[in-house]
Amino acid sequence: MLSRTMAKTIAIVGAGRVGQSLARALRRRGYRIGAVVARSTRSAHRAVKFIEAGKPLARVEPALLAANVVLVATPDGQVAEAAGALARLKGSWKGKVVLHTSGALSASALARVKRCGAAVGSLHPIWPFPKPIKILPEGIVFGIDGDLRARRQARTLVRALGGGPMEIRAGEKALYHAAAVLVAGHLMTLIDLGTRMLRRTGVAEREARQALLPLVQQTVAGYARLGTRAWTGPLERGDADTVRRHLKALRRLPPVYRRVYAALAEAGVELYRRDRGQTTRALQRLLKKVR
Ligand SMILES: NC(=O)c1ccc[n+]([C@@H]2O[C@H](COP(=O)([O-])OP(=O)(O)OC[C@H]3O[C@@H](n4cnc5c(N)ncnc54)[C@H](OP(=O)(O)O)[C@@H]3O)[C@@H](O)[C@H]2O)c1
Repeated sequence: MLSRTMAKTIAIVGAGRVGQSLARALRRRGYRIGAVVARSTRSAHRAVKFIEAGKPLARVEPALLAANVVLVATPDGQVAEAAGALARLKGSWKGKVVLHTSGALSASALARVKRCGAAVGSLHPIWPFPKPIKILPEGIVFGIDGDLRARRQARTLVRALGGGPMEIRAGEKALYHAAAVLVAGHLMTLIDLGTRMLRRTGVAEREARQALLPLVQQTVAGYARLGTRAWTGPLERGDADTVRRHLKALRRLPPVYRRVYAALAEAGVELYRRDRGQTTRALQRLLKKVR
């Protein structure tokens, strides 16, 4: 059942992985889905089939103005373009809310439609969508920013999706998004680098993953429980000799491996050095040489 503050009809501009997943989840939570726009008719039809609702369109058309909220889920580079197309529609934007789902862009990417009277903001799920998700998990955190009215609407949508809204200070979206990319996308790269390193020791890929993944899971669980007190290994022990041996072994691999190892080691030492005193200085000198 929708409360008074909930939007009645949501239109989607950019019906890809995120657009389809959110629209489907919102429909299941009782929202009406209006226009569903993609670049091609084929994509729009596919999206409507996935969402199980909506009117497929291959361009922005006046039918969009029937919605109370427009969700722009195009690729980042197309958000301003989509806002321009919405602004060119003949009709009133007063009382309507336009939200985009980009992580790195702020609400200002929608400036063109804001000038027509819409409240604008962003609602970014901190969640990977390698493909459209049929049943969106509960508890996803969404970064939100924008005008007061847009933020209020974004919070209502996020709660309807069973998620948690997290307000990002104006102008800080790029930093916010960099944090998410650092711990998600880069964590995967890190695991993959480790797997490839183990492969160089004569271990099969499957075996390498089986060895590393439980270690990653245990580290994440430890961090969740103890924070940085879960830190272990040669850096935590101040063991410069072991780190020197690692750096020497890494010379046999492409330079990026050594640089990643040294950069992360330097960050660890830098972040926790206050507790480590003299031994840390030896480590810092060693790691600086890799820059
Ligand atoms: N994927 C993720 O893990 C993820 C997570 C959180 C947030 N996001 C953000 O969500 C947004 C969408 O990402 P996505 O991964 O869902 O993208 P996507 O799967 O590539 O889908 C983009 C959709 O936008 C349509 N489109 C492109 N240009 C358009 C335009 N000018 N007007 C109307 N529709 C247009 C495309 O149409 P066609 O299908 O016809 O080409 C496609 O349906 C991005 O801002 C992204 O940063 C992504």
